[in-house]
Amino acid sequence: MAINSTGLQPGQGANEGNNNIQGQLSSEVRDALSLISLRCVECLRLYPALEAGRTPRYRCDCGSVLDVEIAFQLPSRRAQQSGDAFFRLATEQEHMPAAGAVWRQIFDDRASTPPIWSISTDKLLFDYSGVWRYRDLILPAPERYIVSRPEGNTGLYPVGIENCGAGRAGHRQLGIYAGLERFFLKHEGENPTGSFKDRGMTVGVTMAQMLGAKAVACASTGNTSASLASYAAQAGIESIVFLPAGNVAGGKLAQSLAYGARAVQIAGDFDAAMSLVEQVCNEQGIYLLNSLNPFRIEGQKAIGFEILQQLDWQAPDWLVLPAGNLGNISAIGKAFREAYQLSLIGHVPRIAAIQAGGANPFYRSFMQDFAAYRPVQADTIATAIKIGNPVSYPRARRVIKACDGVVEEVSDEEILAAKAMIDRAGLGCEPASAATLAGVRKLVAAGIIKRDELVVGVLTGNLLKDSKTGIPQAVTGEAIEPTLDAVRSVLLQ
Ligand SMILES: Cc1ncc(COP(=O)(O)O)c(C=O)c1O
Ligand SMILES: [Zn+2]
Repeated sequence: MAINSTGLQPGQGANEGNNNIQGQLSSEVRDALSLISLRCVECLRLYPALEAGRTPRYRCDCGSVLDVEIAFQLPSRRAQQSGDAFFRLATEQEHMPAAGAVWRQIFDDRASTPPIWSISTDKLLFDYSGVWRYRDLILPAPERYIVSRPEGNTGLYPVGIENCGAGRAGHRQLGIYAGLERFFLKHEGENPTGSFKDRGMTVGVTMAQMLGAKAVACASTGNTSASLASYAAQAGIESIVFLPAGNVAGGKLAQSLAYGARAVQIAGDFDAAMSLVEQVCNEQGIYLLNSLNPFRIEGQKAIGFEILQQLDWQAPDWLVLPAGNLGNISAIGKAFREAYQLSLIGHVPRIAAIQAGGANPFYRSFMQDFAAYRPVQADTIATAIKIGNPVSYPRARRVIKACDGVVEEVSDEEILAAKAMIDRAGLGCEPASAATLAGVRKLVAAGIIKRDELVVGVLTGNLLKDSKTGIPQAVTGEAIEPTLDAVRSVLLQ
Protein backbone atom coordinates (compact mmCIF):
# COMPACT_ATOMS: atom_id res chain seq x y z
CA MET A 1 0.00 0.00 0.00
CA ALA A 2 1.37 3.39 -0.95
CA ILE A 3 1.87 5.85 1.85
CA ASN A 4 -0.52 8.44 0.49
CA SER A 5 -3.36 5.96 0.47
CA THR A 6 -3.55 6.48 4.24
CA GLY A 7 -6.19 9.14 3.87
CA LEU A 8 -3.67 11.88 3.28
CA GLN A 9 -4.30 14.19 0.42
CA PRO A 10 -1.07 15.65 -0.89
CA GLY A 11 -1.57 19.15 -2.22
CA GLN A 12 -4.47 19.88 0.11
CA GLY A 13 -4.26 23.25 1.83
CA ALA A 14 -3.81 26.91 1.19
CA ASN A 15 -1.28 26.46 -1.58
CA GLU A 16 -2.36 24.07 -4.34
CA GLY A 17 0.41 21.79 -5.52
CA ASN A 18 2.28 22.14 -2.24
CA ASN A 19 1.98 19.23 0.20
CA ASN A 20 0.56 21.45 2.86
CA ILE A 21 -1.00 19.54 5.78
CA GLN A 22 -2.73 22.62 7.15
CA GLY A 23 -6.36 22.35 6.11
CA GLN A 24 -8.70 25.16 7.02
CA LEU A 25 -7.43 26.11 10.44
CA SER A 26 -9.89 27.39 13.00
CA SER A 27 -9.51 30.93 14.28
CA GLU A 28 -8.72 29.63 17.79
CA VAL A 29 -5.84 27.59 16.36
CA ARG A 30 -4.57 30.59 14.42
CA ASP A 31 -4.80 32.72 17.57
CA ALA A 32 -2.93 30.13 19.65
CA LEU A 33 -0.18 29.73 17.06
CA SER A 34 0.19 33.47 16.65
CA LEU A 35 1.77 33.50 20.14
CA ILE A 36 4.54 31.17 18.95
CA SER A 37 7.72 31.68 16.93
CA LEU A 38 10.42 29.26 15.90
CA ARG A 39 14.03 30.35 16.29
CA CYS A 40 17.03 28.74 14.62
CA VAL A 41 19.46 27.38 17.19
CA GLU A 42 22.48 28.26 14.99
CA CYS A 43 21.79 31.45 13.03
CA LEU A 44 18.97 32.72 15.33
CA ARG A 45 16.65 33.48 12.41
CA LEU A 46 13.04 33.76 13.55
CA TYR A 47 10.05 32.19 11.77
CA PRO A 48 6.34 32.36 12.59
CA ALA A 49 4.88 29.04 13.78
CA LEU A 50 2.40 29.24 10.96
CA GLU A 51 3.70 30.09 7.51
CA ALA A 52 0.88 30.43 5.01
CA GLY A 53 0.91 27.90 2.22
CA ARG A 54 3.78 25.72 3.31
CA THR A 55 4.27 22.44 5.11
CA PRO A 56 5.20 22.71 8.78
CA ARG A 57 8.77 23.82 9.19
CA TYR A 58 11.12 21.49 11.09
CA ARG A 59 14.39 23.19 10.13
CA CYS A 60 15.77 26.64 9.43
CA ASP A 61 16.67 27.49 5.84
CA CYS A 62 20.30 27.16 7.00
CA GLY A 63 19.60 23.48 7.77
CA SER A 64 19.81 23.67 11.56
CA VAL A 65 17.13 22.86 14.11
CA LEU A 66 14.55 25.19 15.64
CA ASP A 67 13.41 26.08 19.13
CA VAL A 68 9.92 27.18 20.10
CA GLU A 69 9.68 30.68 21.58
CA ILE A 70 6.45 31.51 23.36
CA ALA A 71 5.21 34.70 24.86
CA PHE A 72 4.36 33.25 28.28
CA GLN A 73 1.16 34.60 29.76
CA LEU A 74 -0.13 34.14 33.26
CA PRO A 75 -3.68 32.76 33.34
CA SER A 76 -5.97 35.79 33.34
CA ARG A 77 -7.39 35.59 36.88
CA ARG A 78 -3.97 35.54 38.42
CA ALA A 79 -2.74 38.13 36.01
CA GLN A 80 -5.33 40.54 37.38
CA GLN A 81 -4.32 39.74 40.94
CA SER A 82 -0.62 40.13 40.32
CA GLY A 83 -0.90 43.05 37.92
CA ASP A 84 1.89 41.55 35.86
CA ALA A 85 0.17 39.89 32.97
CA PHE A 86 2.78 39.24 30.41
CA PHE A 87 6.23 37.73 30.27
CA ARG A 88 8.18 37.92 27.07
CA LEU A 89 10.84 35.24 27.31
CA ALA A 90 13.85 36.59 25.50
CA THR A 91 17.16 34.75 25.85
CA GLU A 92 18.37 37.02 28.64
CA GLN A 93 15.39 37.94 30.74
CA GLU A 94 15.76 39.49 34.13
CA HIS A 95 15.23 37.27 37.14
CA MET A 96 11.93 38.27 38.83
CA PRO A 97 11.44 36.55 42.20
CA ALA A 98 7.86 37.78 42.73
CA ALA A 99 6.68 36.33 39.43
CA GLY A 100 8.20 32.98 40.39
CA ALA A 101 5.95 32.75 43.45
CA VAL A 102 2.85 33.34 41.32
CA TRP A 103 3.80 30.64 38.83
CA ARG A 104 4.65 28.19 41.60
CA GLN A 105 1.25 28.78 43.21
CA ILE A 106 -0.54 28.14 39.90
CA PHE A 107 1.24 24.84 39.32
CA ASP A 108 0.86 23.74 42.95
CA ASP A 109 -2.90 24.49 42.85
CA ARG A 110 -3.28 22.42 39.70
CA ALA A 111 -1.23 19.57 41.19
CA SER A 112 -3.41 19.50 44.28
CA THR A 113 -6.43 18.19 42.35
CA PRO A 114 -7.24 14.63 43.41
CA PRO A 115 -4.85 12.14 41.82
CA ILE A 116 -7.69 10.36 40.05
CA TRP A 117 -9.22 12.02 37.06
CA SER A 118 -12.81 11.68 36.10
CA ILE A 119 -14.04 11.64 32.52
CA SER A 120 -16.83 13.98 33.53
CA THR A 121 -14.46 16.83 34.34
CA ASP A 122 -12.11 17.74 31.52
CA LYS A 123 -10.59 20.45 33.63
CA LEU A 124 -9.24 17.90 36.06
CA LEU A 125 -7.70 15.92 33.23
CA PHE A 126 -5.56 18.81 32.06
CA ASP A 127 -4.51 19.77 35.55
CA TYR A 128 -3.72 16.16 36.40
CA SER A 129 -1.54 15.63 33.33
CA GLY A 130 2.11 16.09 34.26
CA VAL A 131 2.49 17.90 30.95
CA TRP A 132 -0.62 20.05 30.56
CA ARG A 133 -0.41 21.20 34.18
CA TYR A 134 2.40 23.41 32.85
CA ARG A 135 0.50 24.28 29.66
CA ASP A 136 1.22 28.02 29.89
CA LEU A 137 4.94 27.22 29.47
CA ILE A 138 4.45 24.49 26.85
CA LEU A 139 1.71 25.10 24.28
CA PRO A 140 -1.32 27.38 24.51
CA ALA A 141 -3.51 24.75 22.80
CA PRO A 142 -7.30 25.19 22.72
CA GLU A 143 -8.60 22.48 25.06
CA ARG A 144 -10.68 20.62 22.50
CA TYR A 145 -7.56 19.70 20.50
CA ILE A 146 -5.57 18.27 23.41
CA VAL A 147 -4.81 14.54 23.18
CA SER A 148 -3.82 13.32 26.65
CA ARG A 149 -3.86 9.93 28.44
CA PRO A 150 -3.01 11.79 30.82
CA GLU A 151 0.75 11.40 31.16
CA GLY A 152 3.50 12.31 33.62
CA ASN A 153 3.14 12.22 37.42
CA THR A 154 5.93 9.66 37.49
CA GLY A 155 7.70 8.61 40.67
CA LEU A 156 10.70 10.50 42.00
CA TYR A 157 12.36 7.86 44.17
CA PRO A 158 14.73 8.86 46.96
CA VAL A 159 17.54 6.31 46.68
CA GLY A 160 20.53 8.10 48.24
CA ILE A 161 22.44 6.81 51.26
CA GLU A 162 21.03 9.60 53.41
CA ASN A 163 17.69 10.49 51.80
CA CYS A 164 16.25 7.05 50.99
CA GLY A 165 14.32 6.97 54.26
CA ALA A 166 12.78 4.17 56.27
CA GLY A 167 11.46 1.13 54.44
CA ARG A 168 13.78 1.60 51.50
CA ALA A 169 16.79 -0.49 52.39
CA GLY A 170 16.74 -1.99 48.90
CA HIS A 171 16.71 1.41 47.23
CA ARG A 172 19.59 2.51 49.44
CA GLN A 173 21.78 0.03 47.57
CA LEU A 174 21.54 2.34 44.58
CA GLY A 175 22.83 5.27 46.63
CA ILE A 176 25.71 3.12 47.84
CA TYR A 177 26.43 1.98 44.26
CA ALA A 178 26.41 5.57 43.02
CA GLY A 179 28.29 6.90 46.06
CA LEU A 180 25.72 9.62 46.75
CA GLU A 181 24.09 10.83 49.95
CA ARG A 182 21.14 12.61 48.32
CA PHE A 183 20.08 10.91 45.13
CA PHE A 184 16.69 10.62 43.37
CA LEU A 185 15.65 8.53 40.39
CA LYS A 186 12.82 9.93 38.27
CA HIS A 187 11.10 6.94 36.66
CA GLU A 188 9.78 8.05 33.31
CA GLY A 189 9.06 4.40 32.50
CA GLU A 190 5.86 4.97 34.52
CA ASN A 191 4.31 6.99 31.69
CA PRO A 192 1.27 5.52 29.85
CA THR A 193 3.26 3.72 27.14
CA GLY A 194 6.25 3.12 29.38
CA SER A 195 8.69 5.86 28.39
CA PHE A 196 9.32 9.60 28.62
CA LYS A 197 8.33 9.94 24.96
CA ASP A 198 4.67 10.30 25.99
CA ARG A 199 5.39 13.79 27.31
CA GLY A 200 6.55 14.99 23.92
CA MET A 201 3.97 13.00 22.06
CA THR A 202 0.91 14.40 23.83
CA VAL A 203 2.03 17.82 22.62
CA GLY A 204 3.12 16.59 19.18
CA VAL A 205 -0.17 14.83 18.46
CA THR A 206 -2.09 17.79 19.84
CA MET A 207 -0.24 19.96 17.29
CA ALA A 208 -1.12 17.42 14.60
CA GLN A 209 -4.79 17.81 15.59
CA MET A 210 -4.56 21.58 15.55
CA LEU A 211 -3.03 21.50 12.06
CA GLY A 212 -5.61 19.01 10.80
CA ALA A 213 -2.99 16.35 9.92
CA LYS A 214 -4.36 13.08 8.57
CA ALA A 215 -1.19 11.09 9.21
CA VAL A 216 1.83 11.32 11.50
CA ALA A 217 5.18 9.54 11.28
CA CYS A 218 8.49 9.06 13.02
CA ALA A 219 11.71 7.10 12.84
CA SER A 220 12.33 5.28 16.06
CA THR A 221 14.48 2.95 18.09
CA GLY A 222 11.12 1.81 19.49
CA ASN A 223 9.82 4.03 22.26
CA THR A 224 8.89 6.99 20.07
CA SER A 225 6.96 4.71 17.74
CA ALA A 226 5.06 3.06 20.61
CA SER A 227 4.11 6.46 21.97
CA LEU A 228 3.23 7.92 18.56
CA ALA A 229 1.06 4.91 17.73
CA SER A 230 -0.83 5.18 21.02
CA TYR A 231 -1.55 8.90 20.89
CA ALA A 232 -2.37 8.83 17.17
CA ALA A 233 -4.80 5.95 17.76
CA GLN A 234 -6.49 7.95 20.51
CA ALA A 235 -6.87 10.89 18.15
CA GLY A 236 -7.99 8.73 15.21
CA ILE A 237 -5.00 9.74 13.10
CA GLU A 238 -3.04 7.31 10.93
CA SER A 239 0.48 6.56 12.21
CA ILE A 240 3.51 5.33 10.27
CA VAL A 241 6.71 4.27 12.03
CA PHE A 242 10.11 3.77 10.40
CA LEU A 243 12.11 1.19 12.33
CA PRO A 244 15.70 -0.02 11.96
CA ALA A 245 15.12 -3.73 11.24
CA GLY A 246 16.39 -6.02 13.99
CA ASN A 247 17.23 -3.14 16.33
CA VAL A 248 13.95 -2.57 18.11
CA ALA A 249 13.24 -4.35 21.42
CA GLY A 250 10.31 -6.76 21.32
CA GLY A 251 8.03 -4.93 23.74
CA LYS A 252 8.26 -1.69 21.78
CA LEU A 253 7.58 -3.31 18.42
CA ALA A 254 4.62 -5.17 19.92
CA GLN A 255 3.16 -1.92 21.26
CA SER A 256 3.47 -0.09 17.94
CA LEU A 257 1.79 -2.90 16.02
CA ALA A 258 -0.92 -3.44 18.61
CA TYR A 259 -1.82 0.26 18.63
CA GLY A 260 -2.25 0.01 14.87
CA ALA A 261 0.80 1.77 13.42
CA ARG A 262 1.99 0.93 9.94
CA ALA A 263 5.54 -0.27 10.50
CA VAL A 264 8.06 0.34 7.74
CA GLN A 265 11.16 -1.75 8.50
CA ILE A 266 14.34 -0.23 7.12
CA ALA A 267 17.32 -2.48 6.41
CA GLY A 268 19.61 0.10 7.95
CA ASP A 269 20.25 1.86 11.23
CA PHE A 270 18.23 4.52 13.07
CA ASP A 271 20.14 7.32 11.35
CA ALA A 272 19.15 6.00 7.92
CA ALA A 273 15.51 5.68 9.03
CA MET A 274 15.59 9.23 10.42
CA SER A 275 16.90 10.72 7.21
CA LEU A 276 14.27 8.87 5.15
CA VAL A 277 11.31 9.79 7.33
CA GLU A 278 12.19 13.48 7.21
CA GLN A 279 12.31 13.41 3.41
CA VAL A 280 9.08 11.39 3.13
CA CYS A 281 7.19 13.66 5.52
CA ASN A 282 8.21 16.80 3.62
CA GLU A 283 7.36 15.17 0.31
CA GLN A 284 4.02 13.61 1.30
CA GLY A 285 2.75 16.21 3.75
CA ILE A 286 2.78 13.80 6.68
CA TYR A 287 3.31 15.46 10.07
CA LEU A 288 6.75 14.50 11.39
CA LEU A 289 6.87 13.67 15.08
CA ASN A 290 10.50 12.95 15.82
CA SER A 291 12.16 15.26 18.32
CA LEU A 292 13.38 17.22 15.31
CA ASN A 293 9.86 18.67 15.63
CA PRO A 294 10.33 21.47 18.19
CA PHE A 295 6.90 20.89 19.74
CA ARG A 296 8.00 17.42 20.91
CA ILE A 297 10.79 19.18 22.80
CA GLU A 298 8.25 21.53 24.41
CA GLY A 299 6.34 18.57 25.85
CA GLN A 300 9.44 16.88 27.19
CA LYS A 301 10.30 20.06 29.09
CA ALA A 302 7.64 18.86 31.53
CA ILE A 303 10.07 16.25 32.89
CA GLY A 304 12.17 19.14 34.16
CA PHE A 305 9.20 21.13 35.51
CA GLU A 306 7.77 18.09 37.29
CA ILE A 307 11.09 17.23 38.94
CA LEU A 308 11.38 20.81 40.21
CA GLN A 309 7.83 20.74 41.53
CA GLN A 310 8.35 17.37 43.25
CA LEU A 311 11.43 18.84 44.93
CA ASP A 312 9.26 21.70 46.15
CA TRP A 313 10.93 24.02 43.63
CA GLN A 314 14.41 23.36 44.94
CA ALA A 315 16.73 22.98 41.96
CA PRO A 316 19.04 19.94 42.21
CA ASP A 317 22.78 20.35 41.72
CA TRP A 318 22.82 17.80 38.91
CA LEU A 319 20.41 16.21 36.46
CA VAL A 320 21.75 13.06 34.79
CA LEU A 321 20.21 11.29 31.79
CA PRO A 322 21.00 8.91 28.93
CA ALA A 323 21.62 10.62 25.58
CA GLY A 324 20.93 9.33 22.07
CA ASN A 325 19.25 11.65 19.58
CA LEU A 326 19.78 14.43 22.18
CA GLY A 327 16.15 15.58 22.23
CA ASN A 328 15.61 14.95 25.92
CA ILE A 329 18.67 16.83 27.14
CA SER A 330 17.63 19.72 24.89
CA ALA A 331 14.15 19.68 26.42
CA ILE A 332 15.16 19.42 30.08
CA GLY A 333 17.90 22.02 29.58
CA LYS A 334 15.37 24.42 28.04
CA ALA A 335 12.94 23.78 30.92
CA PHE A 336 15.55 24.61 33.54
CA ARG A 337 16.60 27.76 31.69
CA GLU A 338 13.00 28.94 31.41
CA ALA A 339 12.24 28.00 35.03
CA TYR A 340 15.18 30.13 36.10
CA GLN A 341 14.15 33.03 33.88
CA LEU A 342 10.66 32.93 35.39
CA SER A 343 12.18 32.73 38.91
CA LEU A 344 10.60 29.35 39.57
CA ILE A 345 14.05 28.29 40.80
CA GLY A 346 17.10 30.12 42.08
CA HIS A 347 19.82 28.41 40.05
CA VAL A 348 20.14 26.28 36.92
CA PRO A 349 21.14 22.65 37.60
CA ARG A 350 24.18 21.21 35.84
CA ILE A 351 23.33 18.46 33.39
CA ALA A 352 25.34 15.30 32.74
CA ALA A 353 24.53 13.46 29.49
CA ILE A 354 25.56 9.81 29.39
CA GLN A 355 26.24 8.05 26.10
CA ALA A 356 27.02 4.42 25.36
CA GLY A 357 30.69 4.05 24.43
CA GLY A 358 29.71 2.54 21.07
CA ALA A 359 27.34 5.39 20.21
CA ASN A 360 29.19 8.43 21.50
CA PRO A 361 29.43 11.28 18.96
CA PHE A 362 28.32 13.84 21.56
CA TYR A 363 30.90 12.62 24.08
CA ARG A 364 33.67 12.80 21.48
CA SER A 365 32.71 16.31 20.54
CA PHE A 366 32.53 17.38 24.21
CA MET A 367 36.04 16.00 24.77
CA GLN A 368 37.25 18.43 22.09
CA ASP A 369 35.42 21.35 23.65
CA PHE A 370 32.84 21.04 20.89
CA ALA A 371 35.45 22.19 18.35
CA ALA A 372 34.40 19.38 15.98
CA TYR A 373 31.52 17.00 15.49
CA ARG A 374 31.60 13.73 13.60
CA PRO A 375 28.82 11.13 13.35
CA VAL A 376 29.77 7.55 14.28
CA GLN A 377 28.56 4.09 13.27
CA ALA A 378 26.59 3.24 16.41
CA ASP A 379 26.90 -0.06 18.23
CA THR A 380 25.55 -0.83 21.72
CA ILE A 381 23.24 -3.31 23.45
CA ALA A 382 21.19 -0.30 24.61
CA THR A 383 19.19 -0.06 21.37
CA ALA A 384 17.24 3.03 22.49
CA ILE A 385 20.42 5.10 22.36
CA LYS A 386 22.04 3.32 19.41
CA ILE A 387 22.22 6.55 17.42
CA GLY A 388 25.32 7.74 15.56
CA ASN A 389 24.17 11.09 14.17
CA PRO A 390 21.93 12.84 16.72
CA VAL A 391 19.52 15.33 15.20
CA SER A 392 19.48 17.67 18.22
CA TYR A 393 23.26 18.02 18.50
CA PRO A 394 23.23 21.86 18.20
CA ARG A 395 20.50 22.15 20.84
CA ALA A 396 22.28 19.82 23.26
CA ARG A 397 25.68 21.46 22.78
CA ARG A 398 24.14 24.77 23.73
CA VAL A 399 22.58 23.24 26.86
CA ILE A 400 25.84 21.69 28.06
CA LYS A 401 27.74 24.92 27.51
CA ALA A 402 25.13 27.09 29.20
CA CYS A 403 24.76 24.98 32.37
CA ASP A 404 28.43 24.01 32.73
CA GLY A 405 27.40 20.44 32.08
CA VAL A 406 29.40 17.35 31.18
CA VAL A 407 29.11 14.43 28.77
CA GLU A 408 30.31 10.99 29.87
CA GLU A 409 30.46 7.60 28.16
CA VAL A 410 29.87 4.17 29.67
CA SER A 411 30.53 0.69 28.32
CA ASP A 412 27.84 -1.92 27.66
CA GLU A 413 29.21 -3.87 30.66
CA GLU A 414 28.76 -0.83 32.90
CA ILE A 415 25.21 -0.37 31.56
CA LEU A 416 24.33 -4.01 32.28
CA ALA A 417 25.83 -3.89 35.79
CA ALA A 418 23.86 -0.73 36.60
CA LYS A 419 20.69 -2.22 35.13
CA ALA A 420 21.05 -5.27 37.37
CA MET A 421 21.26 -2.95 40.39
CA ILE A 422 18.16 -0.98 39.35
CA ASP A 423 16.22 -4.14 38.57
CA ARG A 424 17.12 -5.79 41.87
CA ALA A 425 16.20 -2.67 43.79
CA GLY A 426 12.66 -3.32 42.53
CA LEU A 427 12.48 -0.31 40.23
CA GLY A 428 13.60 -1.90 36.98
CA CYS A 429 14.34 -0.15 33.71
CA GLU A 430 15.30 -0.83 30.14
CA PRO A 431 19.03 -0.98 29.25
CA ALA A 432 19.43 2.58 27.91
CA SER A 433 17.99 4.01 31.13
CA ALA A 434 20.64 2.27 33.19
CA ALA A 435 23.30 4.41 31.49
CA THR A 436 22.13 7.07 33.96
CA LEU A 437 23.25 5.12 37.04
CA ALA A 438 26.42 3.85 35.33
CA GLY A 439 27.27 7.45 34.43
CA VAL A 440 26.53 8.82 37.90
CA ARG A 441 28.78 6.18 39.47
CA LYS A 442 31.59 7.05 37.08
CA LEU A 443 31.25 10.81 37.57
CA VAL A 444 31.16 10.45 41.37
CA ALA A 445 34.25 8.22 41.30
CA ALA A 446 36.01 10.85 39.16
CA GLY A 447 35.11 13.56 41.69
CA ILE A 448 33.07 15.54 39.13
CA ILE A 449 29.82 14.96 41.01
CA LYS A 450 30.43 15.43 44.75
CA ARG A 451 29.14 12.87 47.24
CA ASP A 452 26.94 15.39 49.08
CA GLU A 453 25.43 17.09 46.03
CA LEU A 454 21.72 16.75 45.27
CA VAL A 455 21.44 14.59 42.16
CA VAL A 456 18.43 13.52 40.08
CA GLY A 457 18.87 10.73 37.54
CA VAL A 458 16.27 10.03 34.87
CA LEU A 459 15.20 6.45 34.11
CA THR A 460 13.76 6.85 30.64
CA GLY A 461 12.03 3.53 29.92
CA ASN A 462 10.21 0.65 31.56
CA LEU A 463 11.77 -2.73 32.34
CA LEU A 464 9.11 -4.51 30.25
CA LYS A 465 10.14 -2.74 27.07
CA ASP A 466 13.04 -5.14 26.61
CA SER A 467 12.52 -8.48 28.29
CA LYS A 468 15.68 -10.01 26.84
CA THR A 469 18.70 -7.80 27.46
CA GLY A 470 20.31 -8.25 30.86
CA ILE A 471 17.43 -10.26 32.34
CA PRO A 472 17.72 -13.91 33.47
CA GLN A 473 15.93 -15.87 30.73
CA ALA A 474 14.97 -18.95 32.69
CA VAL A 475 13.90 -19.95 36.18
CA THR A 476 16.81 -21.97 37.56
CA GLY A 477 16.31 -25.60 38.55
CA GLU A 478 13.86 -28.29 37.53
CA ALA A 479 10.12 -28.07 38.12
CA ILE A 480 9.27 -29.89 41.34
CA GLU A 481 6.36 -32.05 42.46
CA PRO A 482 3.43 -29.97 43.75
CA THR A 483 3.87 -31.12 47.35
CA LEU A 484 4.83 -29.32 50.55
CA ASP A 485 7.72 -31.72 51.12
CA ALA A 486 9.20 -30.98 47.70
CA VAL A 487 8.91 -27.22 48.30
CA ARG A 488 10.51 -27.54 51.75
CA SER A 489 13.44 -29.49 50.39
CA VAL A 490 14.06 -26.81 47.71
CA LEU A 491 13.86 -23.89 50.15
CA LEU A 492 16.15 -25.57 52.67
CA GLN A 493 18.86 -26.31 50.10
C1 LIG B 1 14.62 4.61 26.83
C2 LIG B 1 15.33 5.74 26.16
N1 LIG B 1 16.31 6.35 26.80
C3 LIG B 1 16.99 7.36 26.26
C4 LIG B 1 16.70 7.80 24.99
C5 LIG B 1 17.50 8.92 24.43
O1 LIG B 1 16.79 10.11 24.37
P1 LIG B 1 17.16 11.18 23.27
O2 LIG B 1 17.09 10.46 21.95
O3 LIG B 1 16.17 12.25 23.41
O4 LIG B 1 18.56 11.60 23.57
C6 LIG B 1 15.69 7.18 24.25
C7 LIG B 1 15.37 7.61 22.89
O5 LIG B 1 14.78 6.89 22.12
C8 LIG B 1 14.98 6.14 24.86
O6 LIG B 1 13.98 5.52 24.22
ZN1 LIG C 1 19.51 28.96 10.79
